[in-house]
Amino acid sequence: MNPGNMSQAFTALQQAMDMIERGEYAGADAQFDRAESLAPHFPGINLMRAQAMNQAGRVLDAVRHFGAAAIKAQIMGFQAHQQLAASLEKTARDAAFQSYRDLLAPRYAPEEIETRARRFIEEYTREFTTHANTLLDTAANWVLLHAPLLIERGFDFRGARVLEIGGSIVPAVCYLYAVMGARVCAVDKFRTSESINILGPAAQRICHETIFARLAKRDLLPAEWLAGNPPLIMDELVECSNNSVAFDPRFLDFRGGVDAANLPFDTGSFDLVSSVATLEHVGDPDGDPADTVREIARVLKPGGWSAHMIDLCDHRDPKNAPLEFLKYSDAQWRAMSVPQNQRANRWRMSRWSEAFKNAGLEEVVARPETAGNSIPVTPETVAQLHADFKNLDFADLSAPGCLILSRKPL
Ligand SMILES: C[S@@+](CC[C@H](N)C(=O)[O-])C[C@H]1O[C@@H](n2cnc3c(N)ncnc32)[C@H](O)[C@@H]1O
Repeated sequence: MNPGNMSQAFTALQQAMDMIERGEYAGADAQFDRAESLAPHFPGINLMRAQAMNQAGRVLDAVRHFGAAAIKAQIMGFQAHQQLAASLEKTARDAAFQSYRDLLAPRYAPEEIETRARRFIEEYTREFTTHANTLLDTAANWVLLHAPLLIERGFDFRGARVLEIGGSIVPAVCYLYAVMGARVCAVDKFRTSESINILGPAAQRICHETIFARLAKRDLLPAEWLAGNPPLIMDELVECSNNSVAFDPRFLDFRGGVDAANLPFDTGSFDLVSSVATLEHVGDPDGDPADTVREIARVLKPGGWSAHMIDLCDHRDPKNAPLEFLKYSDAQWRAMSVPQNQRANRWRMSRWSEAFKNAGLEEVVARPETAGNSIPVTPETVAQLHADFKNLDFADLSAPGCLILSRKPL
């Protein structure tokens, strides 16, 4: 499986869960099927599907999916099986759980389990090793893009207090700041120590083992950025347990369930506030993204830096229809049923630039980030946009993303 499949699987899973909440079971089943076909070895999909079925009173379906989740986890041969069974026990109805046990036993002969186990473990490990490497490479690209701009202006990561907004499931950027000697804090609105575990304990372990092994090689960032910093020992810093992922707070102070518009930190706490592919989500659907910008400005120390990579494409189909979401009025867009991770506030680069200045920060860099691919904009494209977006200039429409670097005055 490639990591693109993995993220599509998560999107389908999210859509399925949203549909379950609205009672749209047929649609949810189709999305669950899609998620399973994209990530066939991942027991978490069956587990969430089973829990949703159980809550919806579809006990037999719940049993079937608890069984599939348990078999996948068992076949993986990880400790996860024990943990999964324990968590099933907590959530399943008694009858469902008993049936699941019965279902598991006669499924495979012991030798067949052996053969399947080996294959599954290899494939599963490969999937999540690739996933972890991609996360780390993406995080390293971001650090290599903005850290030189800071360092050449005198910023020192060693001992700096850094806040990462929207670190998500495996907050790889935070690990890179940590190897550079920073004291790192992360907030995320839709992830907590529990939901961060959406990957499942075994997958989290594989991801983290891969990431820490690569961090130990010290080949991701320039050697002079790392010199003198002690190595990071995974077993001392990260605990991938049953229902949560815990970080040693000296390594990463992770605060889940925190909205960037309301940061639980004192004014003047951080030397750097950073984010990647997160600001486009803040304030949506009902808030104002400017609230988040003001919070960033507030928690920065005088002289502190704010560095953000903002994805400006419609997340529903960024490659083929990156400006599609600009065809709607605010009211239409708010009313549309779009999964949370595909929603966006639709601000373009000029608006972000203005907001940071209005919040009292001095702009140092505001530039489109195209990764070699600008959005093609023709008069026809503009003609199709909603009136609110028709007057945007070419740079604003053609930028698929932007980097905004600013500084709080001393
Ligand atoms: C697209 S993900 C980016 C994750 C990570 N930075 C990366 O580059 O892989 C956006 C993250 O922002 C978080 N998020 C969305 N809105 C937020 C808000 N208002 N405050 C804090 N985090 C938010 C989401 O939960 C999600 O983890």
